[in-house]
Amino acid sequence: MSMNMWSKNASLAGATLSLAGIPAAQLAKDFGTPSFFLDEDAYRSRALAWHNGLHSEFGPNAGTIYYAAKSFICTAVAQWIADIGIGIDVCTGGELAVALNGGIDPKKIEVHGNNKSVAEIDRAVSVGVKTIVMDSLFEIERVAAAAKKHGVRQAVMLRLTPGIEAHTHEKISTAHEDVKFGFSIASGAAWAAVESVATHPELELLGVHCHIGSQIFGSEAHEIATDRLIGFMAKYRDAYKSELPELDLGGGFGIAYIDGDVTVEPSDVLPQIHAAVKKACAQHNLAIPLVSLEPGRNIVGPTMFTLYEVGTVKDVVVDGGKIRKYVSVDGGMSDNARTALYDAQYTAVIAQRNSTAPLALTRLVGKHCETGDIIINEIQLPSDVAPGDLIATPATGAYGRSMASNYNHVPRPPVVAVKDGKARVIVRRENEADLLSLDVKE
Ligand code: LLP
Repeated sequence: MSMNMWSKNASLAGATLSLAGIPAAQLAKDFGTPSFFLDEDAYRSRALAWHNGLHSEFGPNAGTIYYAAKSFICTAVAQWIADIGIGIDVCTGGELAVALNGGIDPKKIEVHGNNKSVAEIDRAVSVGVKTIVMDSLFEIERVAAAAKKHGVRQAVMLRLTPGIEAHTHEKISTAHEDVKFGFSIASGAAWAAVESVATHPELELLGVHCHIGSQIFGSEAHEIATDRLIGFMAKYRDAYKSELPELDLGGGFGIAYIDGDVTVEPSDVLPQIHAAVKKACAQHNLAIPLVSLEPGRNIVGPTMFTLYEVGTVKDVVVDGGKIRKYVSVDGGMSDNARTALYDAQYTAVIAQRNSTAPLALTRLVGKHCETGDIIINEIQLPSDVAPGDLIATPATGAYGRSMASNYNHVPRPPVVAVKDGKARVIVRRENEADLLSLDVKE
């Protein structure tokens, strides 16, 4: 197996998994299963690589790396972000609360969301976030009213849909025309939004934003988006005789999940995006704006694996007498909804021992009362996999714990940060008391 989907301090030497020097068996013993194990050093270096990459590529035109909190956030990670000095993109009041709890400077916070509540807008304006990204005409009115109430001038961006079909799963592709997000450039909605913002002296239009989708490889889609957004900024300059200072091209950079995949590194895409920015600005005779990005998955995705314990193994005869081995682990769709939702692909290893048994066609499933509770639809695993074995699935850092649920009243797993041979809980495991804590007894 290639190591592409494992974090930098994970090792499969001797066919047993360890992270930052701690064997998986020890992690399971100390923290239980299922659990997410987070390679702190890998997280910090991936975040820093985007920050440094943006600055070295764009120099004075580097904007901000806004880590997309939706991919995974907790207070400790927000503290790391504050420490590293990058920004954060939050899309709900809950994510904003975690960012503030972690001590992130509000001036490094960008607020997203296609239906922010009045209360969420009020909190964002009152704590002084750097920018709120407008997604509808209603919202422009609501943010203007909040700014007036708090006696401030709020910086805003406009989320635009540049009409791009990014090659990714339909449910995570966001910038073609038929979506709920943003203002369409092609339909004229984006221009109507510019005109609406201009009627509100308490709003300052900083620039334009787009997010074209997630798990995207190559830079072509971002380059086309760049061209369309800068064309729009030129139209603004022509009409308003001033230039918008900022351009935010969103996130979406892909990572490796299975053998053969390669994680996008900042240096694979930043020079191409920069070239597209320079070309479009030259064409329209515009000054180069500050360029920002919002990677989520690409920073945190590769930094975690999930560790499960096998509970049962069942050989099921399928078409043509073929045998499919069903291996059931102690988690499932409540800690990894991505297979059920997006047909996402993962790989897995037996984490605590070497096996030389022949491989068998296996389906890795969870413990939920549902046939679709599948973590890996088809994988070749050693045929001697047995109850008590530990199974690790790499690259579960993004949209794993963050999309976890309590389906079937299963407590959500903890997140354990591991660094230099030491491990500590940064999100504790839920327990029965947590599960009962919201119920009102009659
Ligand atoms: N910025 C905006 C405005 C976004 O909507 C998103 C993701 C991002 C940045 C970060 O995208 P990333 O760099 O992580 O690809 N739950 C799905 C992914 C949904 C992404 C939604 N927006 C999944 O598990 O694949």
